[in-house]
Amino acid sequence: MTSEDRPVTSTLFDRIGLLYTGDRAREEIENAALVVEGGEVVWVGPAGAAPCADERVDVAGRCVIPGFVDSHAHLVFAGDRTAEFAARMAGRPYTAGGIRTTVSATRAASDAELVTRTATLVAEMLAQGTTTVEIKSGYGLTVEDERRSLEIARGFTEETTYLGAHVVPPDASSADEYVRTVTGEMLEACAPHARWVDVFCERGAFDADQSREILLAGVKAGLLPRIHANQLGEGPGARIAAEVGAASADHCTHLTDDDVSALSSSGVVATLLPGAEFSTRSPYPDARRLLDAGVTVALATDCNPGSSFTSSMPFCVALAVREMRMTPLEAIRAATYGGARALRRGDVGTLRVGSRGDLVILDTPTYVHLAYRPGVPLVTQVWKEGRRLV
Ligand code: NIG
Ligand code: FE
Repeated sequence: MTSEDRPVTSTLFDRIGLLYTGDRAREEIENAALVVEGGEVVWVGPAGAAPCADERVDVAGRCVIPGFVDSHAHLVFAGDRTAEFAARMAGRPYTAGGIRTTVSATRAASDAELVTRTATLVAEMLAQGTTTVEIKSGYGLTVEDERRSLEIARGFTEETTYLGAHVVPPDASSADEYVRTVTGEMLEACAPHARWVDVFCERGAFDADQSREILLAGVKAGLLPRIHANQLGEGPGARIAAEVGAASADHCTHLTDDDVSALSSSGVVATLLPGAEFSTRSPYPDARRLLDAGVTVALATDCNPGSSFTSSMPFCVALAVREMRMTPLEAIRAATYGGARALRRGDVGTLRVGSRGDLVILDTPTYVHLAYRPGVPLVTQVWKEGRRLV
């Protein structure tokens, strides 16, 4: 939305039972009100004390939270991997190799099909309260297919991520040759459509030297680094994140004490993706250990057809509370403020004066119900930049 088509009218959200602001200075306010004008929050305070506005929404004692910030998703793809999921549930392990199945289907799909499928997933996310989403490439793995994926992603979000280094595609003559393409011709074609560069640093994907080289080439081309790290086993990913100044290390399922210290001293956000552990029937990361070490934690869906085919941030919040030793407050913070930190955004993930007018009304008295009532559609209204979209 450009500044010309932002709504000029102001909206007062009145009689908010509980406002979760995401602002550590005043994180929860009971009996609150909030005013959005020109797409931005212009006033936050007690109900009854708010200035007049053009429109009034009676929240009637329910809970208001910032729109979720889903900072890790792979939405541009075609094909289906239901059989792979069913095989895992019958005891097969998850391997990164399944990515290649989606790569073939994505390459064969038309632009229109990819746009339609991405739009469907973004709409699913919005209906569940997500107002900011990051979208990665990574299922094209040729210069043209990666460029096309990012161009499509750009139609939906400014948070686009170049993930040419998802796996080495079967048609590459060698891993070294593919890394040369990823850091050369492919990067050049993709950089104009991306804000971020990412690499899947994992056994079976890219090793430490390759990951470093790919991220630094991206940085040289003006992109900001983030990384898939320590998902399937211990490895160098989290330490590389600290070394290159990545905004976020994502997955962080298998961390040594040194990895945790590296994240905490460098200020790299640990983005945890419990949908992936759910869908691959793997042990969950230990959020408590990261939080206790002072690491900023984000929660995201990792929405993709292989390891985590959920678009639901409420589901991830529930998993984080039940399975990752997070309190409901820590989980809602990670799904809003934490996601914004993982994307280096100061305008979303919070509801304070100056924040974007992105908010969710839950049909409950408190955000705790997101974990207490898992699987229940509690999101009743979604507003983005001051406009009601759901
Ligand atoms: O984040 N880990 C790498 N990429 C995805 C999985 C992609 C797939 O299996 O298709 C992830 O989990
Ligand atoms: Fe991922």
